[in-house]
Formats: sequence, structure tokens, C-alpha cells
Amino acid sequence: MSDTEQARRLRFEIFRYNPEDENSEPHTDVFELDETPFMTLYIALNQIREKQDPGLQFDFACRSAICGSCAMMVNGRPALACRTLTSDLPEKIQLYPLPTFKLIGDLSVDTGTWFREMAEKTEAWIHERLPFDPDALEQRMSDDVAAAIYEGDRCIECGCCVASCGLANVDDTFLAGAGLNRVARFMMDPRDSRSDSEWFDVVAGDQGVFACIGMMACEDVCPKELPLLEVYAYLRRKTLGARFLAKGDKA
Ligand code: FES
Repeated sequence: MSDTEQARRLRFEIFRYNPEDENSEPHTDVFELDETPFMTLYIALNQIREKQDPGLQFDFACRSAICGSCAMMVNGRPALACRTLTSDLPEKIQLYPLPTFKLIGDLSVDTGTWFREMAEKTEAWIHERLPFDPDALEQRMSDDVAAAIYEGDRCIECGCCVASCGLANVDDTFLAGAGLNRVARFMMDPRDSRSDSEWFDVVAGDQGVFACIGMMACEDVCPKELPLLEVYAYLRRKTLGARFLAKGDKA
């Protein structure tokens, strides 16, 4: 915005509801703000909370797209508030909490319970079956494998992919983008000793990669631009390979 341009007057329509308060009813409140250069939704929400409504609930921690706390529905699309510039949005901005997750209040949701349940269901930790040997040398890993694991670890578990997923919205047991990405991360890790057929039980059921209906909104909204389509292809390839081998079919 140049010095001569008139600042836009932004109109925020924000979902309000406190599920802990029996007198609270879901509704929206409207707030207005003058836009400033490089204003993000994070900055705008803080200004609203500081100057207009100290009771407004929303989450943030890092302000730099790392912690994943500030995800919300921005004009109908999941996004990180700290990374979304108001200049990329129209003057009317609707903010709602992410669906699928338990509402804490206003724009704040509990993503932690969903991610913990997903991690427990998929046992998202290294399964090492070798006996512990304190004198063992460090195991080497190829650069390619390390880079692929690092790519999976870039997920910040913000929940945007889960909120955008048509299936996860009606079935909260579906692993969705973040869960399947987590599975793939451990599946490709040579330190994890689970076999492909063991992974089959995790990935191939109704909650897994074959239940995905392929709308790919998850990849469209991922703020870290993770290649989720490639992740699903990897999981399907590995899982089907395990099933064919289990049946003795070498095709
Ligand atoms: S505040 Fe951490 S991702 Fe936005």
C-alpha cells in the first residue's frame, strides 16, 4: 500500500461461542479495523482483542507458521492466521473455528486430542526390535532417505488438512493428511522395524489411505505445501505390495 492510498476498512465477522457457558449461544460478532501495511490476521485479531473485545478466544504461540496453533477457517478455507496477510483477502473477512476438532471457545479448538489419538492408533514412534546395546555404533542412513523423512517431519500438525477433508469431517477416525503423512514418515524410516504387512493393518482399513475419496483439498490448504498426493501414492504402493507378497503373487 503506498502512502497516498486510502487504508481499507476491514470488516471481521467472527464466530463466538463458549461451550462451557450454558448461557452462550453460537453467533457471530462484527468488528472493524483500519488495515495497516503487512497486517496479518494474527495482528488484526490481537488488535481486536486488545482494543475491542478482551474476551475473544484464539490460539497462537510462534507467529511464524511453526507451532500450528493459529489455524482457523478464513472465508471458508483453513489457513494459519499468522501467515495470512489481510491484503490477500477481501474487505469482508469471516473467521470460524476449524471443524472436526473439539471447540474450546470462539476460534480456539483442541487439535491436541485428535493428534494424540492418531499417534496412539498408528503407534507413531520408532519400533526398534534390536536389544539395546550401549556400545553400538550410530547407524548410517542415506541422504535420500534422511531427506524424505525430514520432508514428512515438516508437518506442523496445524489441522488444516483435517479440517479441509470431506471424509474427516464426517468420520473422525479417518487418519486424514496429517495422520497418513505421519505413517509414511515412520514407514520409510529404516530404524523402524515394522514390516509392510504390519503397516497394512494400520493403513489399509476404513481409517486409512484407501478410504480417501481423492478430493485433495488437504494438499491445497497445507501451509507447509507438503506433497500429500505423493505420500498417499507411496502408502498405496507399499500397502498393496505387502498384500500381493502375502498372497504369493509376485506381479
Ligand atoms: S502462531 Fe504458530 S503457526 Fe501461527
